[in-house]
Amino acid sequence: MVGHRGGGALAPENTLAGIRKAAAMGFGGVEFDVVLSADKVPVLMHDETLERTTDGRGAVSATPYARFASLDAGAWFGREYRGERVPSFELAGKLCVELGLWANVEIKPAKGFERETGAVAAKLAAEIWRGASPAPLLSSFQRTALEAARAAAPELDRGFLTDRIEPNWREAAQALGCVSVHCNCKYLTPAQAKEIRGAGYWLLCYTANDPETVRRLFSWGVDAIFTDRLDLIPPDLS
Ligand code: G3P
Ligand code: MG
Repeated sequence: MVGHRGGGALAPENTLAGIRKAAAMGFGGVEFDVVLSADKVPVLMHDETLERTTDGRGAVSATPYARFASLDAGAWFGREYRGERVPSFELAGKLCVELGLWANVEIKPAKGFERETGAVAAKLAAEIWRGASPAPLLSSFQRTALEAARAAAPELDRGFLTDRIEPNWREAAQALGCVSVHCNCKYLTPAQAKEIRGAGYWLLCYTANDPETVRRLFSWGVDAIFTDRLDLIPPDLS
């Protein structure tokens, strides 16, 4: 099981506290979202804007990196997380390496920054994980970002991320040199799971938060599942 956005619903999303929580809870790995600040520093953030998960306002892509140091990214979640920051990708990646935690780096570019975000994130990932194990897996809904990631760090694994599995999934995944397919478990069918696994791709699904769904997905051959609620998943499934 993989902690979605770090520690899922057990800690503020896309924070170092979330990553630490995931490790402490026994998650096999974490997924987090990476976007560029105004001055092109990759940081962890899901939304294009600051409002939902910080006490700041405005677009993430218009916010200089230095500004993140004074934003609170934990208070919205709970008092005990007050003072938690929006981490740079560098800090988050290094923490994963230190904890021995596997990471799925979802490259989530702001509109218009797909190529740049893919390139910067992949180059930095290659530096952070150089010689370290387990190596990260880069994924993105944006094909341009994956193309740029491939050019910047061809040695890193890439995952084709899509909400629904479309009939042309194989051509797309192949064209991007991906090793895995990531999709929304809401729409996945057993036949699609079989086809993807049969074609030699790892299959990862988001987001399952109950044991029944997790059991069903694993029985279809799904390799890894992103969850917000590891606390609800029995140890034999985690
Ligand atoms: O990478 C899988 C999943 O995180 C994609 O959805 O919106 O939570 O980033 P989202
Ligand atoms: Mg994500």
